[in-house]
Amino acid sequence: MNYRHAFHAGNFADVIKHPVLCELLRLLTAKDKKLFVLDTHAGAGGYDLGGALAVRTRESEAGVARLMVTPRAGMPAAVARYLAAVTAYDRKFGATTGGVRHYPGSPRLIRSALRPGDRFVACELHADEFQSLKREFAGDRAIEVREEDGYKALKSLLPPAERRGLVLIDPPFEAADEFDRLLRAMRQGLRRFATGCYAIWYPIKDEAAVETFLQGMAGLKCLHLEFRVPPLVPGKLAACGMVVINPPWKFEEAMRETLPWLANVLGGQASVTAPAPAA
Ligand SMILES: C[S@@+](CC[C@H](N)C(=O)[O-])C[C@H]1O[C@@H](n2cnc3c(N)ncnc32)[C@H](O)[C@@H]1O
Repeated sequence: MNYRHAFHAGNFADVIKHPVLCELLRLLTAKDKKLFVLDTHAGAGGYDLGGALAVRTRESEAGVARLMVTPRAGMPAAVARYLAAVTAYDRKFGATTGGVRHYPGSPRLIRSALRPGDRFVACELHADEFQSLKREFAGDRAIEVREEDGYKALKSLLPPAERRGLVLIDPPFEAADEFDRLLRAMRQGLRRFATGCYAIWYPIKDEAAVETFLQGMAGLKCLHLEFRVPPLVPGKLAACGMVVINPPWKFEEAMRETLPWLANVLGGQASVTAPAPAA
């Protein structure tokens, strides 16, 4: 496992994934019922965009940094709320104005959305990333950090006692068979917890592999989100997607407003499609 999210934190893919995540959390916590959240591939929790790894790629410059300098007039509420969460995290490190230096990863964004009584488990398999994640949340009893295979957690932790849950699956896609593993694990998760909301991120490099993966979702109630930007560096990732299974009410509406706006700001293209569920 070589993948380190610090190289990519705050890039165009995070700027899609994280507003989606924040919006799901907002809608799922609107109901006065406890929520369980599982982040199967959590990463380090937070990232220093001025640190050595982030500076090597400067990917956040065409992502969150660009959003931060975009006028707020006409900004979709989901993006504004995401940026507010980013800014709140950055301020913990003493930032006062301007851009972003400290960027929250998915566990931080999840943690900031949870209410007392909600439950959160974050899995991370890479030893160094796990140590960073543990440090990030040291002393915080509202999150359980596990050095564990997130795919196995789909089996061991589902269904949750709360009966309401959000599962974020955000693998590094280093392994050639990642799409297959993901599909297998997701089916296992759905067999145990069919009513859960699952948000799955994937890169679009091999269009045929993506097509096969999406065919594996046929019949499920889900929303497909895709995003393409001009490549920063030729040959580097410039397109990604998310599948949200069992999306909450009003989520599709929010995404139909949010994704085209993000595409416009980042100079890309976005699509939101809701395939017909099984008859
Ligand atoms: C794309 S990054 C996660 C980014 C994070 N979700 C965020 O949005 O801030 C993927 C992470 O999964 C970790 N990882 C890889 N295989 C794993 C597995 N089987 N179970 C748990 N974590 C894994 C990697 O070490 C890496 O930190």
